[in-house]
Amino acid sequence: MSILVLGASGQIGGFAVQDLVEMCGEKDVIASSRRMSHVKKAVDDLKLSKKVKVMELDANDSSKLLETIKREKVESVVNCAWYQTNLGVMDACLKGGATYTDLGGFFDTCLKQIELHKKWKDAGINATIGLGSTPGMTNIAGAAGAKKLDSVDTIDITCSWGNTLPVKEAGWPGYSIRTVLDEFTQESVQWINGKYAKQKILGGETDVTMPEPIGKVKAYFIKHSEPATMGKYLNAKNVTFRIGFPASDMNTFLTLRALGFADTNPLESGGAKISPLDYLTSMYQRGISEGRAAPPNEKIEYDMFRIDCVGKKDNMAATVTYFIVTWNDPERGVSSARDTSVPPAIVAHWQHTKRIKEAGVFPAEATVDPEPFFKELGKRKIYVDEQITRSTKFY
Ligand SMILES: NC(=O)c1ccc[n+]([C@@H]2O[C@H](COP(=O)([O-])OP(=O)(O)OC[C@H]3O[C@@H](n4cnc5c(N)ncnc54)[C@H](OP(=O)(O)O)[C@@H]3O)[C@@H](O)[C@H]2O)c1
Repeated sequence: MSILVLGASGQIGGFAVQDLVEMCGEKDVIASSRRMSHVKKAVDDLKLSKKVKVMELDANDSSKLLETIKREKVESVVNCAWYQTNLGVMDACLKGGATYTDLGGFFDTCLKQIELHKKWKDAGINATIGLGSTPGMTNIAGAAGAKKLDSVDTIDITCSWGNTLPVKEAGWPGYSIRTVLDEFTQESVQWINGKYAKQKILGGETDVTMPEPIGKVKAYFIKHSEPATMGKYLNAKNVTFRIGFPASDMNTFLTLRALGFADTNPLESGGAKISPLDYLTSMYQRGISEGRAAPPNEKIEYDMFRIDCVGKKDNMAATVTYFIVTWNDPERGVSSARDTSVPPAIVAHWQHTKRIKEAGVFPAEATVDPEPFFKELGKRKIYVDEQITRSTKFY
């Protein structure tokens, strides 16, 4: 019985395969992507070629996927391809009887996935969606905070990252360039007063204090799936998601948007037709693939998350805050790819070992037990710091 990883040539998928094999101890893992050469290189770079099977598989080809699930006796699928594939992959998993996890559905797709709950419940199979750093670790931290309170009013999430080098060279983002451009071109939806509320692109500017060396950062509302689910599942009145972009990345992303790189209409050049977004994506894929073979030497880059859960405990005001921090690890790669690839690997392993077995489609805050999950993160040098502030007495 095997675990199938889709999109294993990507920035996150390759490390998810590595974690499944080296940390979770899974013996039968299949790494796949649309192009054999891409996935083979990823597996070779990570020195996993003798430990996993590689396969060319398009996540959009539902019938081939179903055939693979049956032929290879796949019990769990981890979808690390772009989120636009999520619904088709879930369909094949449901028909083939495999559990499912992914890296998130960018709000709209996530809601469509949740709508499939009854079908999955009736079939007796678990799908836990939106695993990664954010969404993923952030949802589970929100659930952990809610558990420590009697009632939750507001959950505010902020994500940021950076680099301690004095001069930051231009580089590719820590996650799909396609998603970055979605974030810079689509209005966000936040959960405000128990309802979805549309916000303008990069609205909600707020100063947020993150751990050092970031300190105070300007953070903006971004379209994400945490506000799509956490308000409903954790019974919170407000759930917001912001990113505090490092200034240099903010300028790069704004420039790419201004120059038209988010455009999906094909342009003709030299007899070929390709959209600016697809061309940029191919350049990004080449950059990521070239970088993976050489792990970072130093702890230069970091990823940081802050989750504030504000509510009441024993009728007194209380706030539970989680800071989740990880740095580059010379042994296991860059911070952003590690902290995003580890959560789906842990969850797929827990689905495979029946530790997560509730039938239906759930967001991470509904099925993942926070404390054991945080302990697993700690083993991978992704550290969760819980801080509780509460009023104790009024005079
Ligand atoms: N939850 C989180 O914290 C989080 C963080 C980062 C990213 N994400 C999301 O996760 C997804 C992947 O991100 P990433 O940074 O790993 O992107 P990426 O580096 O672009 O990797 C995606 C990989 O999927 C493969 N792929 C694309 N379409 C496919 C298909 N139809 N079938 C099979 N494989 C396919 C591509 O490889 P081939 O060309 O070889 O097929 C590509 O290498 C994105 O949607 C992103 O938004 C979530």
